[in-house]
Amino acid sequence: MADTLTIIDNRTGKQYELAITDGTIRALDLRQIKADAEDFGLMAYDPAYMNTASCRSAITLIDGDKGILRYRGYPIEQLAEHSTFQEVAYLLLKGELPSEGEYKAWVNEITHHTYVHEYVNRAMDGFLYDAHMMGKLVTFLAALSTFYPKSKAVRDARTRDEHIVKIIAKMPTLAAWCFRHSTGRPYIYPDNSLSYCGNFLNMLFRMGEPKYDPDPVLERALDVLFILHADHEQNCSASAARAVGSSESDPYCSLAAAAAALYGPLHGGANEAVLRMLKQIGSVKNIPSFIEGCKDGSQRLMGFGHRVYKNYDPRAKIIKELAHQVFAVTGKNPYLDIALELEKIALDDEYFIKRKLYPNVDFYSGLIYQAMGFPVEMFPVLFAIPRAAGWLAQWQEMLVDPEQRIARPRQVYIGADVRDYVAIDKRGAGSAS
Ligand code: SDX
Repeated sequence: MADTLTIIDNRTGKQYELAITDGTIRALDLRQIKADAEDFGLMAYDPAYMNTASCRSAITLIDGDKGILRYRGYPIEQLAEHSTFQEVAYLLLKGELPSEGEYKAWVNEITHHTYVHEYVNRAMDGFLYDAHMMGKLVTFLAALSTFYPKSKAVRDARTRDEHIVKIIAKMPTLAAWCFRHSTGRPYIYPDNSLSYCGNFLNMLFRMGEPKYDPDPVLERALDVLFILHADHEQNCSASAARAVGSSESDPYCSLAAAAAALYGPLHGGANEAVLRMLKQIGSVKNIPSFIEGCKDGSQRLMGFGHRVYKNYDPRAKIIKELAHQVFAVTGKNPYLDIALELEKIALDDEYFIKRKLYPNVDFYSGLIYQAMGFPVEMFPVLFAIPRAAGWLAQWQEMLVDPEQRIARPRQVYIGADVRDYVAIDKRGAGSAS
């Protein structure tokens, strides 16, 4: 049997053979199917890209039915157990695990680019103390493009490499300073003797002590959380990074667009929404009525469901186990019992079973972040820091892909037919619906 699709257009009786490659047909191959010579030709209509591959990628594989997640072929479970976030960032961007020498050079590069321009401090003070931290992070990611105008040379590999390192290095500093600004505490500068996550904790929580000593359990927990959040193929924010980057915008603005997409409660903002939901539920006894609210559409079980995973999100499993290690240090998050009971009830309920709704990466992560002392507004920022590595890997892959060009979807026009302008004194009462 040939790898082709035979299509008969019943409008004309014509038959077409379309090649099937990697389980897809090329949408452009549909254009030849015309009702008559004037016809533009067929397009595929796919709102929210439910069944459309926008690219060919070698970075991350998700198997939603089997609950599989692999970065460059390595199972997420093995990377979470054996790797570090900086090693995973290297893997996502370069395609291979680094040698010892490559890893040391990579860590050294990132460690020595953690400072951000002092003017960021001044601009930060222009925000209200309670401005949402994702609004600040998106702002300062884009603002960094003004400090590095040469980063626009996105077709030059060395330029890309230089700014990829800068962004990975500076994300924790920007995030920590957004946090310190919101608490009215002085900014803490990077300590290059600490690890990536140890230094992040230093810039967040150091007070009067001359040297910050990160708790090793929390430092490792953050590193594992960063590994788990590093990439997730063509999610909403990665698609935003690719789309904006396809116009040859610089990496800082491309990532600001991605961070803006991540901010939404249906995406990376879900971890914040989960904690607000658990607070709203308030007690295990209120869970049944909340579940009923999910069924009638008045509530949404945040942290549950996924466009791709129709099985348990493998990251959620690892985070759930990690929570117990963190709580041994911080004390148990009181909302854990509500979350565990919510999961238990939901997984036995036909509404969720029928729709294959399972806990996703956001369901338990917020419980850990809150126990570590982060305010809920910080949770999406903690998602954005590691995801910057994934966004950059997707952005870079798009730029070097010979098939890619500026992203510009088509549409099905359903608006008014041609009509003539009417002077305002000749128009009826406001006709706009
Ligand atoms: C992330 O794409 C990625 O990879 C994202 C991410 C990443 O790493 O980048 O994995 C990170 O964003 C995880 C998802 C975080 N979001 C949430 O937890 C928000 C709650 N979940 C949903 O809103 C929803 O499940 C989505 C947005 C995640 C997926 O939405 P889809 O695929 O468009 O599915 P849908 O909204 O069409 O839902 C299908 C049905 C609907 O019911 P019916 O119309 O068939 O009756 O399931 C219902 C929905 O109402 N449903 C839910 C639900 N999620 C879906 N009902 C109650 N609670 C939910 N959480």
